[in-house]
Amino acid sequence: MLFRIAALLSIAILLKQYSHVVCQTVWQPKDQFRLNCGTTMNATVYGQVWMEDIEGHFITDGIPASTSNQNSLLPANGDFLYSARIFTTPSEYTFSVTPGRHWIRMYFYPFSFQNFDPNWSLFSVLADGYVLLSNVSIVGELKTTSQAYLTMEYSINIASSSFSLYFVPANASNSYAFINALEIESMPDDSLADDAILVGHGEPSQFGLPGIALQTMYRVNVGGQTVSPANDSGEARTWIPDSSFILGAATGVIPPYNFNIQYPSTVPTYIAPVSVYGTARTMGGSNIINSHFNLTWIFPVDLHFAYYVRLHFCEIVYTSLYQRIFNVYINNQTALSGLDILAKVTAANMPYYADFVAPMLQGDNRLWLQIGPTPNSGAQFKEAILNGLEIFKINNSEGSLAAVPLPPGFPPIASFQPHSGSQRSSVVVYIGASVGIFAAVAALLASLYFLLFKRTKGGKVMSPAWRSLPLLSGSSGSIGSKLSKASLKSGTGSFVSSAPSNMGGRFIGFAELLEATNNFDESLVLGIGGFGKVYKGELFDGTQVAVKRGNPRSEQGFTEFQTEIELLSKLRHRHLVSLIGYCEEHSEMILVYDYMANGPLRGHLYGTDLPSLNWKQRLEICIGSARGLHYLHTGAAQGIIHRDVKTTNILLDENLEAKVSDFGLSKTGPSLDRTHVSTAVKGSFGYLDPEYFRRQQLTEKSDVYSFGVVLMEILCARPAINPTLPRDQCNLADWALYWQKMGKLEEIIDPRLVGQINKDSLRKFGETAEKCLAEQSIDRPAMGDVLWNLEYALQLQETSSERESSAVNLDACNPQLIELPVDQPMTDDSETNGPVTHAVESEEHADDTSTVFSDDASISTVFSQLVNTQGR
Ligand SMILES: *[C@@H]1O[C@H](CO)[C@@H](O)[C@H](O)[C@H]1NC(C)=O
Ligand SMILES: *[C@@H]1O[C@H](CO)[C@@H](O)[C@H](O)[C@H]1NC(C)=O
Ligand SMILES: *[C@@H]1O[C@H](CO)[C@@H](O)[C@H](O)[C@H]1NC(C)=O
Ligand SMILES: *[C@@H]1O[C@H](CO)[C@@H](O)[C@H](O)[C@H]1NC(C)=O
Ligand SMILES: *[C@@H]1O[C@H](CO)[C@@H](O)[C@H](O)[C@H]1NC(C)=O
Ligand SMILES: *[C@@H]1O[C@H](CO)[C@@H](O)[C@H](O)[C@H]1NC(C)=O
Ligand SMILES: *[C@@H]1O[C@H](CO)[C@@H](O)[C@H](O)[C@H]1NC(C)=O
Ligand SMILES: *[C@@H]1O[C@H](CO)[C@@H](O)[C@H](O)[C@H]1NC(C)=O
Repeated sequence: MLFRIAALLSIAILLKQYSHVVCQTVWQPKDQFRLNCGTTMNATVYGQVWMEDIEGHFITDGIPASTSNQNSLLPANGDFLYSARIFTTPSEYTFSVTPGRHWIRMYFYPFSFQNFDPNWSLFSVLADGYVLLSNVSIVGELKTTSQAYLTMEYSINIASSSFSLYFVPANASNSYAFINALEIESMPDDSLADDAILVGHGEPSQFGLPGIALQTMYRVNVGGQTVSPANDSGEARTWIPDSSFILGAATGVIPPYNFNIQYPSTVPTYIAPVSVYGTARTMGGSNIINSHFNLTWIFPVDLHFAYYVRLHFCEIVYTSLYQRIFNVYINNQTALSGLDILAKVTAANMPYYADFVAPMLQGDNRLWLQIGPTPNSGAQFKEAILNGLEIFKINNSEGSLAAVPLPPGFPPIASFQPHSGSQRSSVVVYIGASVGIFAAVAALLASLYFLLFKRTKGGKVMSPAWRSLPLLSGSSGSIGSKLSKASLKSGTGSFVSSAPSNMGGRFIGFAELLEATNNFDESLVLGIGGFGKVYKGELFDGTQVAVKRGNPRSEQGFTEFQTEIELLSKLRHRHLVSLIGYCEEHSEMILVYDYMANGPLRGHLYGTDLPSLNWKQRLEICIGSARGLHYLHTGAAQGIIHRDVKTTNILLDENLEAKVSDFGLSKTGPSLDRTHVSTAVKGSFGYLDPEYFRRQQLTEKSDVYSFGVVLMEILCARPAINPTLPRDQCNLADWALYWQKMGKLEEIIDPRLVGQINKDSLRKFGETAEKCLAEQSIDRPAMGDVLWNLEYALQLQETSSERESSAVNLDACNPQLIELPVDQPMTDDSETNGPVTHAVESEEHADDTSTVFSDDASISTVFSQLVNTQGR
């Protein structure tokens, strides 16, 4: 009896330990997206669903492609590789994410589809201000491997709640971009840390990991087998065997697989699975004949980058100190000296890992890793051991991980930043749900020394065939300069501590805001933007407000916060949303605005059940927003450029009166002696002025262009970009201009307006919008002229309906007889040659919007108009 109780007890204890292990083992990512691109079919691989990419509204355009030719070189479970999404114009996938470090995995399997020859595919991929691939030909990359497909893995610290991956085809005829499958998944916060040993310098130092992107070059299970994603402790990485990297004949011995790995609390199981720590390569144990050698592994890498190297150790053979003491060399320099693993942990079979940074600025493009017994250590055996390793490339000072620089003429990297994340959500976004593109990544915060990482977790490695891209040649930016730059920085600096200068808005205490929003009750959330959530609230005095609460972890949001306070506290206008106050206590960044009962204009145009607005209401909204923008441009001493005009940034109050909102990206206009502001391109795709995009010179006319898109959106009740439409229709600006130039704009107006609009009012409106959308900013009217013309269009409409109500036959009526101001603003300056050129260009675009890459005007046009993040 006693025996049985004891047995039960020990089973219970075992179970408890077991369940503890299981608990620790499975990492559950907060975000996990697996997309089977370009298809409407889900694919299931090892029990994981790869979702079709339309359903979640991740992508706004591109051409779905698939092949029925099976390839015997692809894994049997590679179903998700047989479809792809092809991009002939710059395009982006957008995801709503939890801020934090994420894995980004891209799978490429080139196949012929219709007229798309994979030999012609040439493109770049950017994300979050980093270049992941530049001018890459997947076919070219695959030639250097024995594989039929390529996997690329990156690790990026995403600061906002929106993440976009941009595919940009090369500027060459017939070139296109494609992707077969895409995976985005949160990484554990502590899997990477901010210190590592700089090879050749000994002590661990901090590097500034948060601002760094990594590309996995290799992830190796030394002495073991391939570990597939499904067997990788929840992290979905792939580990490959080391046999193809080991140098020479002296390959040591592989001890038996030890399943009994005991993870200490300092090493979570997601650092590496048992199958990695439980296998190893050693020098040969006590049977070793000639101990005078090193075990050497060689990894081809790209020169002119630094590499973050993580080595995994676990003493799975010996049990006592002083039995195995060895050195680790990276690139012929001592990285660790006199390592006795058992001195680093409390018992045998316990994992231990160490992180290094190895700059590879010149010379050999192969990373050398060696282990060998420490000379004269007094250890019992001349021995060394290694269980696993990961090698990641660190982005260079230009934010690039690509082997070659971006092609000349490429738009600035900083313009490939996420927009705020709310656009595609069905939540109605009220105030400033979109903060817009964040500024370039904030400066490195920590770091005294050099590029040292600390316990980062590993990136992924491609299987032998999935090698990372062989580097072509060029270098972009020297590590040395980065290093010296980084070494100048010190201190972590809190961005919240310095209050924006010059603030005019009222300070509102955090306590009052807590009360106003019922402790930031989730049920009061009006919308979510890149800056953070927007809540409905009520202040002590009963004022209804919208409270925009910055995400304290998003340092990039601070610039927008400051800009918005500074601008809005100076500006008061009936058609600008007003800032009631702000709060900057407890590291919070909170802005408080008037509550706009009817929310964003877009919701009244399409995509919701809200009642449709009639033409007069729409015109009044256009006029109100034009007034607001006109005031911005001319009312303040120096003029202010909004930079993010779009239908989600025009809010409607309880009387449907329009108010322009969201000034986070706004810029003070050029001073008198200059004609423009030079700045990185920001704004929302689909609304972006092609000239601004091309020349990066900002003027008020960029807002005029965006406003032209807004006018068309109001008239046609469809998004600026609608990827589900045929290619020539997808971009509203192109499509509407095409019909306008044919004089048939009425063909594409909101069906609910049919029969309501007086044709002269429509003509005036169409001309106004067309002028706003002129390719050259100089051909566009000033906001004041736009306003004037819209008022004229309203007058035409009202006169006609008056006449209608007094039973006059409208059609017989000659509009010229109506006494109205002369139509002068629209007919000045560039009228002469403008329309003709435009007609030609616009027809070209309409015919083939997405393949015109022959000149730089069209690439920018296509880029600015087709790439869309409407959801921001
Ligand atoms: C694909 O999978 C997702 C998530 O599991 C599911 O919501 C969706 O309905 C599936 N689609 C199809 C076409 O099966
Ligand atoms: C791509 O080019 C290679 C030769 O470089 C050729 O063998 C192959 O057929 C081409 N592929 C297609 C789809 O044309
Ligand atoms: C995971 O590992 C187990 C044990 O080694 C093996 O039997 C199984 O096939 C592996 N699963 C996958 C998907 O590789
Ligand atoms: C390390 O030394 C070997 C042999 O001496 C040499 O071939 C190799 O290029 C060196 N590696 C590096 C990265 O310097
Ligand atoms: C092991 O490699 C290091 C670095 O390349 C070298 O200094 C050392 O001499 C090598 N040891 C042996 C025994 O070859
Ligand atoms: C990596 O890119 C970021 C953002 O561009 C930059 O701040 C950082 O300095 C780069 N890292 C290195 C080591 O140059
Ligand atoms: C891009 O790659 C193509 C094909 O490999 C090459 O011909 C072209 O010169 C490259 N362009 C740049 C700017 O590197
Ligand atoms: C595209 O290529 C053409 C001709 O090679 C060149 O004139 C133009 O500047 C390029 N545009 C961009 C954006 O690189």
